[in-house]
Amino acid sequence: MKITVVGAGAVGATCADNIARRELAQEVVLLDIKEGLSEGKALDMFQTATLCGFDTKLTGSTNNYEATAGSDVVVITSGLPRKPGMTREELIGTNANIVKGVTENILKHSPDAIIIIVSNPMDTMTYLALQTSGLPKNRIIGMGGILDSARFKTYLSLALDCPPNDIHGTVIGGHGDTTMIPLTRLATRNGVPVSQFLDADTMQKVAADTMVGGATLTKLIGTSAWYAPGAAVAVLVESIVRDQKHVFPCCVALDGEYGQSDICLGVPVVIGRNGWEQIIDYKLNEDEQAAFNKSADAVRSMNDVLKTL
Ligand code: 2OP
Repeated sequence: MKITVVGAGAVGATCADNIARRELAQEVVLLDIKEGLSEGKALDMFQTATLCGFDTKLTGSTNNYEATAGSDVVVITSGLPRKPGMTREELIGTNANIVKGVTENILKHSPDAIIIIVSNPMDTMTYLALQTSGLPKNRIIGMGGILDSARFKTYLSLALDCPPNDIHGTVIGGHGDTTMIPLTRLATRNGVPVSQFLDADTMQKVAADTMVGGATLTKLIGTSAWYAPGAAVAVLVESIVRDQKHVFPCCVALDGEYGQSDICLGVPVVIGRNGWEQIIDYKLNEDEQAAFNKSADAVRSMNDVLKTL
């Protein structure tokens, strides 16, 4: 198995690190346009192999896509990250050109790859990658919902004062501060609805904190977060390369599912060796469906901006 991570910034490098530590591939290639950055970070990470006990080989490449040839999975993290006060949507102009170019270059050398999009605005970048690549829709996956769900579960565990791994919870819809939908109704603590432990105000606060989860970190750190994004990518890659069939909320092309078409949006999907293999219908109630439709409207107007670039 060979995995490429494009973009050796904090998110890309942390993805590569998590992928190597989990030994999800024989080889991980990190690629960046900045001279020496990916080579340096890959070598630094590879020097942890004997310390952390993994055998995955890490190499870096300055914009030479030949080094990525034959990749099974490619993670695209390239583009500008958010600065404090910025929305993910404000990045569209710069990042659309980058993601388009990267997708084209990757496919020249890895025509069979499954492509994971992390660059923001992620839902629109996933839609762009799908259009640019012409690949079957199951091979283009946007990573946002796994990260947003991890943040949701963390905030729930803090509110409940219980271990995060006792919590199940899912965030669907767009990967934006106003477009994501934490499904509070379906969240459980070991199978028991969280509403049995938390009052409505607390649940609303957890949902609100989740929605601005990325922005909160950007404000604190001064740039976009990377530990949870990197780990979230790794669990997605693991389900692909190990054919685990986990159900994760991912941004995928909808063709009537959840009442939407011609859009990529976060819904629960089965993830295996073929990419996303099936969309699971969570049977949203009226309010949740209305929120999903609103999220779709916002993402669709962002997708329309692509036509003007
Ligand atoms: C986030 O931290 C990277 O968009 C990403 O939410």
